[in-house]
Amino acid sequence: MNQDFQLFPGQASRVARDVDNLFWYLTTIATFFTILIFVLIVYFAVKFRRRSESYVPPATKTHAKLEILWSVIPFIIVMTIFVWGARVYFLILRPPATALDIHVVGRQWMWKVQHPTGPREINSLHLPAGKPIELTLASQDVIHSLYIPAFRVKMDVLPGRYTQISFTPTKTGEYHLFCAEYCGTLHSGMIGKVVVMQEQEYQDWLARTPSDLAPVDAGASLFQSMACVTCHGSVAPTLHGLYESNVKLTTGETVIADEQYIRESITDSTAKIVDGYKPIMPSFRGQVSEEELMQLVAYIKSLKSDRPGAPSDQNPPLPLRPTPGQEETR
Ligand code: CUA
Repeated sequence: MNQDFQLFPGQASRVARDVDNLFWYLTTIATFFTILIFVLIVYFAVKFRRRSESYVPPATKTHAKLEILWSVIPFIIVMTIFVWGARVYFLILRPPATALDIHVVGRQWMWKVQHPTGPREINSLHLPAGKPIELTLASQDVIHSLYIPAFRVKMDVLPGRYTQISFTPTKTGEYHLFCAEYCGTLHSGMIGKVVVMQEQEYQDWLARTPSDLAPVDAGASLFQSMACVTCHGSVAPTLHGLYESNVKLTTGETVIADEQYIRESITDSTAKIVDGYKPIMPSFRGQVSEEELMQLVAYIKSLKSDRPGAPSDQNPPLPLRPTPGQEETR
C-alpha cells in the first residue's frame, strides 16, 4: 500500500477509527462555530451600525433564558469532548495485561527496539497483527516523540523516565515510523518503518533475527554482576513481589511500585526511601545505560512474591488496584 504523504493514511490499528472519529467530531464543531461566529459578526455589524452622529442607543435588557442557554449548550458540548477524549486516551495509555511489551529507546538519531524474547532491531519495528502491543519508551539523550500515523498514536520519548503507549495493529503491511519532536541536526532522518506481519511470520522473523539475551535474563545477570543481590533481601528491601505493589515510604506516603518507581530507585536511589530502611544505596545514574535500566526493570518486574498465593503472583488486570495489607518492607 502506498503510504507516502497521505493526509489520512489507512487506519491500521484498532484505535485508529476512534481517533479519526474524535478528530472529525472536533473539526465539525470547530468549523460550525467558526462559521456561526463570523456570520454573526458581519450580520450584527451591519444591523447595529451607528446610523447618525447624535444617535444614542437604548440601554440593553438582560435575557436570563438566553444567557443560560448559551452557557449550558457549550458546557454539554465540551463535556462530550472530555468524556470521548478521555475514553480514547485511556485506550492508548492502558495496555491490557496480555500486551506484548516491546522496549524502544530513542537517541540522536535512531530508534533502538528490543522484543521481549531478546531480538533487537534498529529503525524498524516488526509486529504481529491482531495482538495488543505495549511500547515502553525511553530516551538516552533529548526529548523525542514516537509517531506512527497509520496507527494514530504519538507519544513523547523522554530522558529520565518511561512513557508507554498501547495499540493493536489490525492490518499487515509496512507503515511509517517518525520522530515528531525536533531533536537536533538529523531529526528529519530519525525515521523507520513498522512492519506488521501475521503471527506465524512474526515468530519466524523473531527466530532469524540477531538476538541478545531476553531483557529479563540480561537484567538477572546485571543484578548479579552489579552486586545488587548482595544487599536486596538483607539490608535492603526484597524485590520479590515488588512490582505493582504498594510501598510505604519514610515520608509516610504510599506509592505504587511501577516501572517509573523502579527506574527512579536505581538512578536516583535516595529519592524515595522505603519505610524502615536507611538511604544507603548508591545512585547508579550514569553507570547503567537506558537499555540496561530497562533490563533491570524487566527482571525486577518478573520477580514474583516469595509468599505463595500472594496477589503479585498473578499479573493483575488494569486498572491497577493497590493490594491492601501487602507487605514490602521485609
Ligand atoms: Cu528524535 Cu526528532
